[in-house]
Amino acid sequence: MNENFDRIFLTEDQIQAKVKEAAKWLDERFAGKQPLAVSVLKGSVMFFCDLVRAMHTPVQLDFMTISSYGSSTQSSGVPKIVMDLAASVEGRDVILIEDIVDSGHTLYKLRDLLVGRGAKSFTVVTLLDKPSRRKVDIKADYSCFEVGDEFIVGYGLDYDQQYRDLPYIAILKREVYEK
Ligand code: PRP
Repeated sequence: MNENFDRIFLTEDQIQAKVKEAAKWLDERFAGKQPLAVSVLKGSVMFFCDLVRAMHTPVQLDFMTISSYGSSTQSSGVPKIVMDLAASVEGRDVILIEDIVDSGHTLYKLRDLLVGRGAKSFTVVTLLDKPSRRKVDIKADYSCFEVGDEFIVGYGLDYDQQYRDLPYIAILKREVYEK
């Protein structure tokens, strides 16, 4: 294990088992429909790819890059759209796929934006939920794991752009991000 990690929080097997459950939930909900799956980059990239491949329902894919942390460990509270979707969401069943809901600012902004653009439905699936840090009253429709107020990395989640490529999720040592 990397010396900067305290411990493994979720193994690859634990993550993949939950990905299958989330895919089943989505398949049941969207049977007979053709939803638009939206990946909120960069963090959701791994979860997004695994989740849409585990689904049986045909989905179209689109991507949005939104950033609120920069190189800081605290959310700025002002998420910025770095890259917008390629397609219109008007009249579409949108499935927004996130890696984590923390303060909730990002999700709040995206819901406002995409519902405002005329999405027919808006469903949020997140890999991780950190309810202890919520600043705005919003939650995902489906959440795979709850996490305490710890700094986690891996499987899409970064610390200063590192560790996104890991297939598991680890807890970063406090001294690494507090130094
Ligand atoms: C992270 C994460 C979520 C958001 C959640 O993205 O991927 O989109 O923060 O935080 P919030 O609930 O406090 O808004 P980040 O801005 O770090 O960009 P990244 O996905 O490129 O890592």
